[in-house]
Amino acid sequence: MTMQWKDAPAETVATFLEWDHRRLDALLPNTRALAAAGDFDEAQATFAQFRSGLARHIQMEERVLFPVVEDGIGGPAGPTQVMRHEHRAIESQMTDIATALEETDLAAFEEGLAGLSSVLAPHNMKEENILYPMADQFLGSAERRSALVRSMQAI
Ligand SMILES: [Fe+2]
Ligand SMILES: [Fe+2]
Repeated sequence: MTMQWKDAPAETVATFLEWDHRRLDALLPNTRALAAAGDFDEAQATFAQFRSGLARHIQMEERVLFPVVEDGIGGPAGPTQVMRHEHRAIESQMTDIATALEETDLAAFEEGLAGLSSVLAPHNMKEENILYPMADQFLGSAERRSALVRSMQAI
């Protein structure tokens, strides 16, 4: 399913990607409620939406956004390296959660979700507080910021 981004704010990196964090976060309580109610088919479908959405979000960051930050800093230094490393952990946790849902294993699902949240929440906070404002600052103008958002949305 192709995301059309018609409701997404596109003025700055920060507003767009923060909106996408909230959009994705909202799918997790739904997944959890469905699994707790024993509706594993619907829980799998909702989690699949979260997983593909976050995989695309990660691609937008790694392929379009991080190079801007790395150019601004002058090389692939600390902050983006840490974020890329955390992305790999998040992907592996999403695989574990999808497996738990396939196996209708509620305990493993809850454990996987707790593990994911413990990495994803601080990850998103670091991006929102440090990385996104830094990228918007490096971009420097409203035109360049919205052009970068459009490039990310084309992924
Ligand atoms: Fe990220
Ligand atoms: Fe992000």
